[in-house]
Amino acid sequence: MEKAGSVLPEQGPPLWLLAELTYRCPLQCGYCSNPVDLQRGQSELTTQQWCDVLQQGRALGAVQLGLSGGEPLVRRDLPELISEARSLGYYSNLLTSGMGLSQAKVKQFKDAGLDHIQISFQDSDPDLNNALAGSKKAFSQKLAMAQAIKEQGYPMVFNVVLHRHNLAQIESIIDLAVELGADYVELANSQYHGWALHNREQLMPSQEQLLAAELVVKNYREKLAGKGPALLFVVPDYYENKPNPCMNGWGKMFLTVTPDGTALPCHSARQLPIQFPNVTTTSMNEIWYGSDGFNQFRGEGWMREPCRSCDDRGTDFGGCRCQAFALTGDPFNADPSCNKSPHHHLVQAARQAALNPLEQPLVLRNYANAEQLRKPPMRT
Ligand code: FES
Repeated sequence: MEKAGSVLPEQGPPLWLLAELTYRCPLQCGYCSNPVDLQRGQSELTTQQWCDVLQQGRALGAVQLGLSGGEPLVRRDLPELISEARSLGYYSNLLTSGMGLSQAKVKQFKDAGLDHIQISFQDSDPDLNNALAGSKKAFSQKLAMAQAIKEQGYPMVFNVVLHRHNLAQIESIIDLAVELGADYVELANSQYHGWALHNREQLMPSQEQLLAAELVVKNYREKLAGKGPALLFVVPDYYENKPNPCMNGWGKMFLTVTPDGTALPCHSARQLPIQFPNVTTTSMNEIWYGSDGFNQFRGEGWMREPCRSCDDRGTDFGGCRCQAFALTGDPFNADPSCNKSPHHHLVQAARQAALNPLEQPLVLRNYANAEQLRKPPMRT
């Protein structure tokens, strides 16, 4: 591994703290961005350790808190963590599938001081929603919980991950979000990390599908202007010719703490060949400002060509380090989604493959499949 950069004089605090409370989840979405190396009984921070993370994060300057997973509702101490977040002055967001939620819990979270809830759906069609989630009960539960969230007066984000199996339903997905009273609709095309990368060939839409869906969203924006939810359509990196400024820059404002306390600059960085510190042994101040892992891709000193001399390096920061590693095996390379990258042909090949997609089932995110993926491939 090349030498890490050093902390920049202008380095500000982590404004966003993402607490991935657990990797446990009752659903099995094949596009989940969690690591594929799931194992039963993986260690999780205790309530006290999470409270300490929240305190240290706030002292560092974090103002936004995401409570996520896996499914954060499987943590019984969630109300306690929400109360702690409220007392520390965070603006707190719960990112949930709605599974395990109840009207009573929504009320309990409100009383504890939770500010915002994002609920995810897989589709507007109950059967497809349930098939994608790997749960027969998912759709009806999500509907009931979206209603409960609104009844408690929460601002609600309605989130759907888009891919080639549900892009054609985008009109009815937006209609459902409007009907449920969503304040924001996040139509997030799958990015290919974690399980989604493993299922890329089964998920990736064609450019034609994507453009058709984008047009529908544009028309809805005009129709709903001023009287409906805000619609956010996130294009997959693979169809952008310029890289996205992933995480708004490595170690610039996002700090993720994973269930076992490993601290990361983004939710996918665990796969990188970098040793990241753990909150149980290192202070968050040291992690943020002093650790090699967080300093590794700060600034421009780490960049190679074509990033190093690119006019856009100050705005796209070389794109996504995790994507560079996943596709090229080297996180120092330019993000292959960039058309200047010498590896851009890999992204073009994936787009080409999406024209004749593989008709095979998604590999669902569960322990059995994670176990299978850990086995070395059979020699033929
Ligand atoms: Fe890790 Fe983009 S997801 S840097």
